Amino acid sequence: MENSSNRMDNSSHLILHLTPKSDLEQGVTIITRGEGVSVFDKEGNRYLDMVAGITRPVHVGYGRPELAQAVYDQICELSYFTPMAFANVPAMELAKVLAQITPGAINRFTFECSGSEAVETAMKLAKHYHFFNDNKSRFKIISRRGAYHGVNGIGLRALGSVPAMRQIMEPLAPGGIFVDSPYCYRCPLGLIYPDCDIACARNIEQIIEFEGPEYISAFIGEPIQQAYGALSPPPEYWTIVRRICDTYGILLIIDEVICGFGRTGKMFGIQHFPIQADLLTMAKGITSGYVPLGAVGCTDEVWEPIAVFNHLHTYGNHPVPCAAALKNIEILEREKLIEKSAAVGEHLLKGLHQLQHHPIVGEVRGTGLFAAIDFTSDKKTRAVLPTSQILGMITRARHKGLIVKLAPGRMAIEFAPPLVIRKEEVDYALQIIDAVIAEEEKQMGI
Ligand SMILES: Cc1ncc(COP(=O)(O)O)c(C=O)c1O
Repeated sequence: MENSSNRMDNSSHLILHLTPKSDLEQGVTIITRGEGVSVFDKEGNRYLDMVAGITRPVHVGYGRPELAQAVYDQICELSYFTPMAFANVPAMELAKVLAQITPGAINRFTFECSGSEAVETAMKLAKHYHFFNDNKSRFKIISRRGAYHGVNGIGLRALGSVPAMRQIMEPLAPGGIFVDSPYCYRCPLGLIYPDCDIACARNIEQIIEFEGPEYISAFIGEPIQQAYGALSPPPEYWTIVRRICDTYGILLIIDEVICGFGRTGKMFGIQHFPIQADLLTMAKGITSGYVPLGAVGCTDEVWEPIAVFNHLHTYGNHPVPCAAALKNIEILEREKLIEKSAAVGEHLLKGLHQLQHHPIVGEVRGTGLFAAIDFTSDKKTRAVLPTSQILGMITRARHKGLIVKLAPGRMAIEFAPPLVIRKEEVDYALQIIDAVIAEEEKQMGI
């Protein structure tokens, strides 16, 4: 239904992602325009976008003519050429820039169309590394329960949140191994930090022994995990995981699809921890969502034994999104948006802490401009607040002109605004959130 109304319903020819048909009975909002940190619907209603396009790629904000110009110029110059046996200038330049700004020894890059493809490609590169090192049996991938690493074939087997997405596609490529997430607020092992001695990390060793280290290719994890809501692990966590991976010759893939390009107040999320990755996956903030792009980086050590990367798809190393990424990174650096993410992120976190007096606010967490409120129906037991109530608050916030989202673990509201957001806009968002929480508590009779 494309008519004067602001809604798209079931009569439209468009298939939406992850949208129950029942939602279309009311119709879904049609967004037509974006500017800075706001988007506008078909009727001109303005929404403050606290999750940068909901899937959170829009780091430099909406409506940047510079980015449009970079894409236009590249299309005029060279719109496309194959990634096999030929190179193009923007892809080479972007690889060079990424070699400078990615942490540790990440030094070689290839480009895809999405985060899912980047994850897929990282897993393929890890398999190539083992294959060419004559470790052909290594095919299993370790990820965390509660992980999200995309929707494609071998990456899907690492999907530990949104179980329905994984389960409907089963049987999947074999070799997915799940370990616990470092979710301290509701520890899956029932332990308390720091007395737990970071058992969620240490236990990985037993699981590796059980599965057979000679079958395991890689461990994949987000430095700060989205699923339960902007979840930063205990400071020791990644050091322990890195050591275990080294002990067993397992490659460590750090998935920076959300955290990369300033989301957490540093250029990359893993820079909050004293470890280095073997492979890094990127997407979203690499182009601020203006055009699709995913990227994988690996160290020379990973790349060196691989005689040929047996991989080809039409849009690999595409010059147009690579040109957009170059411009986007230039803007991030020129406008000091990484530093801004750290400073405004602190302001956001401080504001969220002030909401902790609410009986249903369990824990607030945040690193840079990646933050969450984890809700509870009982502060003592930390019982989960029913998802329907959290969704109700999100809907009421939207009616008040604020876009926030449910974290995939379905227990928290997540905030990940464009990095250009100003403190006053954060304050405005916090006021609305405060109001919808108070309304919810009133309805609950608290
Ligand atoms: C950590 C992580 N990895 C991979 C993906 C998949 O990226 P895409 O949706 O671009 O395919 C996502 C998407 O949200 C993600 O958050």
